[in-house]
Amino acid sequence: IKTQICIIGAGPSGLLLAQLLANAGVDTMVLDRKDRAYIEGRIRAGILEWGTVTTLEEAGVAERLHREGIAHDGFELAFEGERHRIDLKGLTGQQVMVYGQTEITRDLFDKRTEEGQIFYYNVEDVTLDGLKSGDPSVGFTQNGNRYEVSCDFIAGCDGYHGVSRQAIPADILKTYERVYPFGWLGILVDQPPVAHELIYANHARGFALASMRSQTRSRYYVQCDLSDRVEDWSDDRFWEEFSNRLGPAADGLRTGPSFEKSIAPLRSFVAEPMRYGALFLAGDAAHIVPPTGAKGLNAAVADVRLLSRAFVAHYEGDDTRLEAYSAKALDRVWKCERFSWQLSTLMHQFPEGSPFEKRMQQADFHYIAGSEAASRSIAENYVGLPLE
Ligand code: FAD
Ligand code: DHB
Repeated sequence: IKTQICIIGAGPSGLLLAQLLANAGVDTMVLDRKDRAYIEGRIRAGILEWGTVTTLEEAGVAERLHREGIAHDGFELAFEGERHRIDLKGLTGQQVMVYGQTEITRDLFDKRTEEGQIFYYNVEDVTLDGLKSGDPSVGFTQNGNRYEVSCDFIAGCDGYHGVSRQAIPADILKTYERVYPFGWLGILVDQPPVAHELIYANHARGFALASMRSQTRSRYYVQCDLSDRVEDWSDDRFWEEFSNRLGPAADGLRTGPSFEKSIAPLRSFVAEPMRYGALFLAGDAAHIVPPTGAKGLNAAVADVRLLSRAFVAHYEGDDTRLEAYSAKALDRVWKCERFSWQLSTLMHQFPEGSPFEKRMQQADFHYIAGSEAASRSIAENYVGLPLE
């Protein structure tokens, strides 16, 4: 098989990259170890920066997003019973959009299928070869048959557990990591959201987040222990804990049976560089943020936007963007890491936290609540730092 760019991974990074390149007339091939139903079923992100929205517009997959997405002008921080609204619109002039990652992947799959492009699903034993040879290739097995793809470049969009990053020699790859001593338990419920805007709460019993997917579907989270299993959390236990932690902000909360429940660990992770020879990493393959602040998917889209432009420029005879990709992407990635780490540190109960650290959290919250400059700094990160 021959293609210009072989994309490993059909998550949002891989699918969006394929679409942006297809629109520019660049030929790609996308392979994934799972199938479409599995990928669409993964409940993950829900909040889009406006730059993510405009990138999806550019890809030609924003029609349903504009019909069904809900634009938000702000969100609330609740800290030990005190409340402070971050007025995104007033402080930055920008909004964010509520629209689930499941919907984005569906729109991207639909568009690509409509255009007659095929995916290679359920592939196994993906290998990357010749990254420095000038003749790169990707090997994979599907239904017992082995294939080899000869290409100009390989895009590693295969997430944190993928193989692409591992193809970079250990003496070149540098990784940075912080693992947090708790997880998030999330549920989906078909009830209207408790409030019009998101509420992030830090309470003595732990963090809670009230988010949403639509006017009739809520996404709620609580901080949980790393050792907790989903079976430990009945719906009753969840509702009691969640409403306690939100406090008065839970007034009017509509409960009901959850239809999705999962636990995610919290991690900060960055791999450098994001390029090795013909291989370019994007999204979770290169970096993970803790979910507080909703940066994961948005950071992936920022990478893909940069990378798609670099590939297009290459085929127009200009390689300066490809050469600059890793450094440029990482500059923004580290700022997203900083913001996600800061908001996570402020909004959770740390089992090992000292009284000094507790006071630092309180001072941080009071500073933000009392300072327009501090609130604006949170707001400008939340709506998204500039794209190129
Ligand atoms: P992924 O979505 O991970 O896609 C990678 C794809 O590569 C997958 O389809 C996978 O099957 C495929 N793949 C992996 N290995 C191979 C292989 N060897 N061969 C072929 N294919 C392979 N972000 C937020 O902003 N808000 C949230 O609330 C939020 N919640 C999250 C909850 C969880 C449990 C997780 C894991 C992430 C969450 N994120 C959240 C982060 C966000 O979902 C990710 O940043 C986003 O999915 C990144 O997209 P991606 O395409 O780079 O990677
Ligand atoms: C959601 C997740 C987040 O991490 C966040 O900061 C906001 C919203 C969500 O899943 O809706």
